[in-house]
Amino acid sequence: MLLEKYRYVHFPPTIFPNIIVDPDKCKGCKICVNSCPTSCLQWDERKRKPVPTSLGGMSLACIACNNCEAVCPENAIKAIGFYFVTKGRYKTDKGKYGNMSYPFNKSEDKLYELDEELNEVEKVIFKRRSVRLFSDKPVEKEKINRILEAGRFAPSAGNCQPYKFLVVTNRKINEEIDIKCSRVLYKIKNLYVIRSKLKKTIVYILSYISPGKWDQRPIAAMEKVQQLGGVITFKAPVVIHILKDVRGISEPDIDVGIVAQNIVLSAHSLGLGTCIIGFIPSAVPFLPSVKKLLGIKYPYKLSLSIAVGYPKVRYDNRYVSRGKIPIEYIS
Ligand SMILES: Cc1cc2nc3c(=O)[nH]c(=O)nc-3n(C[C@H](O)[C@H](O)[C@H](O)COP(=O)(O)O)c2cc1C
Repeated sequence: MLLEKYRYVHFPPTIFPNIIVDPDKCKGCKICVNSCPTSCLQWDERKRKPVPTSLGGMSLACIACNNCEAVCPENAIKAIGFYFVTKGRYKTDKGKYGNMSYPFNKSEDKLYELDEELNEVEKVIFKRRSVRLFSDKPVEKEKINRILEAGRFAPSAGNCQPYKFLVVTNRKINEEIDIKCSRVLYKIKNLYVIRSKLKKTIVYILSYISPGKWDQRPIAAMEKVQQLGGVITFKAPVVIHILKDVRGISEPDIDVGIVAQNIVLSAHSLGLGTCIIGFIPSAVPFLPSVKKLLGIKYPYKLSLSIAVGYPKVRYDNRYVSRGKIPIEYIS
């Protein structure tokens, strides 16, 4: 068991969704490829359709977000099944618990027909998706203030509100931060993907110290960042950085996560699109120049960033499934 954990650090055995593209329906708009968060979907010029692809030793670079399905205006793409790892350190339990009960009366892929059955909050929760294609339209200041206000009303341990918001609407600054952070991401990705003996050993040690950071999924997303030439926040007109106050009681990062969710959901309810970005806070600790640019200093640390803007395309063409998680009832 312990040996298995050490054996499968790089690209562990994984079951991926089966991505099917209907060539008769696909009109070649490439929205699915452009909104894919990883390097999984690539445009095949010869076949004139998107094709799922692999990365390094990963048979498919798909994280099963199913956004390709949600954005396809032609209903030409279907991702069947989920992502789960069957062996090693990143093994997931997801696949074993297929019996999680579905609470609605119609089948899972027909949720949109249930609009009348869902209340307003549920509609926002089920229709929201991470948006990675933004229009150039600037976001009105009133709307930014409104979503930040939703963040302020999030629950926090001891009502500490251990955070601060940094709102960057200067595209040049956002671009500069993206480029600087992307260089750090490339180094991480190359450490993982290019497997010299030394690099392999380094990743083994690092994955022991910080396991979650060395999963293959972020590596596939880092490849996408590289393909986009260093774009991390998707050229969104607004990037909100949530800084945690390290003096906050309990776990300030958890408080920040709840704030982020309030912001993301209220943004969706106002017609805005968002994408929570973990890559910027992962890279910033290695970049004193970015910390200086954003004026981040004690007692604050960058915890999470959110790209905000008007979606360029519809992200709610259909409801998509989501991996089932273990549930146990104790009565
Ligand atoms: C803490 C956190 C960090 C994330 N970091 C990134 C990121 O750096 N880049 C990205 O494209 N998406 C990022 N995401 C978005 C997830 O990929 C996305 O939520 C997930 O694939 C599910 O898709 P959905 O949000 O469309 O339902 C992040 C989400 C969370 C909660």
